[in-house]
Amino acid sequence: MSTNALRHYLQFKDLSADEYAHLLQRAAIIKKKFKAYEKYHPLADRTLAMIFEKASTRTRVSFEAGMYQLGGSVVHLTTGDSQLGRAEPIDDSAKVISRMVDLVMIRTFGQDKIERFAEHSRVPVINGLTNEFHPCQILADIFTYIEHRGSIQGKTVAWVGDGNNMANTWLQAAELLDFKVHVSTPNGYEVNESVAGVSRRDCFEVFSDPLEACRNADLVTTDVWTSMGYEAENEARRTAFADWCVDTEMMKVARPDALFMHCLPAHRGEEVEADVIDGPQSVVWDEAENRMHVQKALMEFLLLGRVS
Ligand code: CP
Ligand code: NVA
Repeated sequence: MSTNALRHYLQFKDLSADEYAHLLQRAAIIKKKFKAYEKYHPLADRTLAMIFEKASTRTRVSFEAGMYQLGGSVVHLTTGDSQLGRAEPIDDSAKVISRMVDLVMIRTFGQDKIERFAEHSRVPVINGLTNEFHPCQILADIFTYIEHRGSIQGKTVAWVGDGNNMANTWLQAAELLDFKVHVSTPNGYEVNESVAGVSRRDCFEVFSDPLEACRNADLVTTDVWTSMGYEAENEARRTAFADWCVDTEMMKVARPDALFMHCLPAHRGEEVEADVIDGPQSVVWDEAENRMHVQKALMEFLLLGRVS
């Protein structure tokens, strides 16, 4: 069981700017240890339960490998192979699972489901993606930006595409860490401030033209046109999003040292041109790898508090 006050990571704003400064520093230290093959087992005898109600490659591998590297172990559950898929109440599942493990990571549909689980959990719960948020991904993206370019404070991030879980989380991060998001979405797919949970309207600016959103941006980023759970809208989205493909023209109007990020999986020729994602400004592979390093720092923080 955890020895610290119970903290969950359900959305980006669950941690303070000061805690992020600490986490990002720890992630860099933990990454260095990994690269040097230095054994670091602060979570020996701790267990992480991972619950997936949607598909995953990066989230599963990064949490599973990360937990083993910290000396702990992992239990992997999906809707199909557990009682979660046979309508066992969330409250009951949370009570049972959290009596046996030290930490829970959940990828699910509505944010209300993970909040409900957390309410009944004895141990920290981490959001591994919901319809509304993807905080671990934005944590990795910010870490990656800092690795390549230094502080993100005062910088401009261009979001081109769907007003989805990634966009909402970028907005929360901008409000908390003091940078700006230029958002361009097709009509009908806008970000919703109240869903995103931001109170300061000046942390983002809306552009109807994606090219204008990218002008002078320090980072250009996008995501799939159709997120998991929205597959029935696939055809309508293909038509609506046709002009929201990050191309070399968009990268040209961004700052000359602008980076390109994508949380992956990507669809070349849809939300991004191959020349951009496979081009010199793209840092998508570092971004994917960094999921593991930041999540190791996050698990350390939730279970052990501030380690120095
Ligand atoms: N970016 C991300 O969360 O990837 P997976 O869906 O593969 O976990
Ligand atoms: N917005 C995407 C992110 C996948 C990592 C989705 O929710 O499917």
